[in-house]
Amino acid sequence: CKGINGLNKVVLRESRGNSAEVYLYGGHVTSWKNERGEELLFVSSKAIFNPPKAIRGGIPICFPQFSNHGSLEQHGFARNRFWSIDTDPPPFPTNFSSKVFVDLILKSCEEDMKIWPHSYEFRLRVALEPGGDLMLTSRIRNTNPNGKPFTFTFAYHTYLSVSDIGEVRVEGLETLDYLDNLQKKERFTEQGDAITFESEVDRVYLSTPTKIAVLDHERKRTFVIRKDGLPDTVVWNPWDKKAKAMADFGDEEYKHMLCVEAAAVENSITLKPGEEWKGTLELSAVPSC
Ligand code: BG6
Repeated sequence: CKGINGLNKVVLRESRGNSAEVYLYGGHVTSWKNERGEELLFVSSKAIFNPPKAIRGGIPICFPQFSNHGSLEQHGFARNRFWSIDTDPPPFPTNFSSKVFVDLILKSCEEDMKIWPHSYEFRLRVALEPGGDLMLTSRIRNTNPNGKPFTFTFAYHTYLSVSDIGEVRVEGLETLDYLDNLQKKERFTEQGDAITFESEVDRVYLSTPTKIAVLDHERKRTFVIRKDGLPDTVVWNPWDKKAKAMADFGDEEYKHMLCVEAAAVENSITLKPGEEWKGTLELSAVPSC
């Protein structure tokens, strides 16, 4: 159906009332609600639902480049291209349980090949699990006809909605190494307990576990992030000064969001012609006390 500014979007609804929305612009999940209708993702009240920029919030797809780790535009171009519905996706493993999903596809085009000279097929399945979990599966295939491999970095740039950033803890990244984007991508080792927030954070945690938790005490909710094929985890909150500098982000909104991004950043992924890479993200929101 039609979303903001008449852009096409797909609405997924599960029988217990959970729902999700996906814009074809960016292949971008902009909403994920639990069975009580509570929104679990953050989308800025100033988000612009129109090209050329990506929608601020939800789950932008960063491909074929994460951030400024390369010569392409920040976070690559997939997040500001129009994707199509994939009517004939290759089969999924038989243990795939969701019945509520949509398959999208983005393919290389002449215009993009001027900036990234590769032929690819990027298939994205967005699924609502019977219990309300949101699952994203990306399958990227090298379709170069000339025998050339290609290399990319990737992230599911997930904006979680939180009550108050000062009350949130991230568990699962303790003692790990990270690259600090605020300090020229220098490498540090996390010392503390769980990660808490009192100023701007922009880090790429390396070789992270497949399960990470974000605890929101005030809302009595824990987000559980499960990932596969994505070794790194980006943690980002712009805090007050950067929030003010972003035109599509409210000055105070940094208090109510946290990006925890399943990613492949430190070691880029290389695909030979005919090869396919798969990366999955599964988000759960569970009540906590
Ligand atoms: C994060 C990066 O993933 O995205 C930050 O680590 C960046 O450095 C942020 O500022 C937002 O990027 P953008 O391009 O959506 O404003």
